[in-house]
Amino acid sequence: MQPKRPRESFTVLTEMVFPNHANALGNLMGGQLLYWMDIAAAIAAYRHSQRVCVTAAVDYVSFRSAIRVGELLTIEAYVTRAFHTSMEVYLRVYAQSLPTNEKRLSNEAYYTFVAIDQSGCPYSGAARRTRNRRGKAPV
Ligand SMILES: CC(C)(COP(=O)(O)OP(=O)(O)OC[C@H]1O[C@@H](n2cnc3c(N)ncnc32)[C@H](O)[C@@H]1OP(=O)(O)O)[C@@H](O)C(=O)NCCC(=O)NCCS
Repeated sequence: MQPKRPRESFTVLTEMVFPNHANALGNLMGGQLLYWMDIAAAIAAYRHSQRVCVTAAVDYVSFRSAIRVGELLTIEAYVTRAFHTSMEVYLRVYAQSLPTNEKRLSNEAYYTFVAIDQSGCPYSGAARRTRNRRGKAPV
């Protein structure tokens, strides 16, 4: 099976933060962000493997700066490493304040996804190896 480049799984998800996404301080709740990151990572894993994929682990998440209600966030995700049936997906999140248009890196994460077959068992052969070095931005 041909290896795939990280850019082939590159996925961008944009969301606006509304009050129903926030905690009592008016900042985006961490769990809401994990949910959006999970969706972006699943799409990247699906694009890489062309199979249904499940979240096996959330390996790392950093919360550098709070994201405020009214800000836009952009989640970028792509497969950085592929193994037998599992894939490592790297995510970075940018928050953007609309009045100033300033964009800052607010979060980074690594998720592990496993490609599965129709019976829900790990599917070998879908997780083709990647060509780029780990962590190298594809675009
Ligand atoms: C993830 C899952 C498919 C693994 O199934 P399994 O029968 O344990 O499979 P295996 O032990 O053969 O492992 C399969 C692969 O998953 C990886 N894996 C399993 N558990 C893992 C974990 N906790 N963290 C990282 N990788 C994991 C293994 O390293 C292996 O990788 P490889 O094939 O690339 O070497 C299974 O545990 C599962 O279905 N979990 C629930 C997933 C889920 O509900 N996610 C949330 C909703 S999408």
